[in-house]
Amino acid sequence: MERTFLMIKPDAVRRGLIGSIIARFEAKGFKLIAGKLMVISDELVKKHYYEHEGRPYYEDLTTFMTSGPVFAMVWQGENIIKLSRFMMGSTDPEKAAPGTIRGDYATRMNRNVIHGSDSPENAEREINLFFQANEFVSNE
Ligand code: GTP
Ligand code: MG
Repeated sequence: MERTFLMIKPDAVRRGLIGSIIARFEAKGFKLIAGKLMVISDELVKKHYYEHEGRPYYEDLTTFMTSGPVFAMVWQGENIIKLSRFMMGSTDPEKAAPGTIRGDYATRMNRNVIHGSDSPENAEREINLFFQANEFVSNE
């Protein structure tokens, strides 16, 4: 079964949105198989967002992502990488449709509530960056 890495960003943790966001993925039929509240180190955020190094928004992105706790998760389900990205909505909340997570909860590109892996390769890479094998449970 396909797995993906989802992370509730510091803005959403601060705003008390963990429960509402998790509820959407549960309602969709996906299974949470690992999860933890954590503060990301500078080293980890650089590895996670390595593709964005050098972009004008990179400094703001990494500072924001280490500014408070995130809720890091691994979810499992059919076609979950593509479907979870649909549920999140566009990166820019100005373009994210109402009914999507960013469309409903975010107003700004650099405070956009949730991260989700965008490909099977990135899902595996990100899962391995954030989680060890002994942190997974079977949740059928
Ligand atoms: P993530 O799930 O966080 O990876 O977002 P994404 O996959 O929808 O977008 P992408 O990976 O391209 O960008 C990662 C993050 O960098 C985004 O969530 C934004 O917060 C930020 N970002 C990307 N492009 C821009 C930009 O043009 N301007 C600003 N301010 N932030 C950007
Ligand atoms: Mg991305």
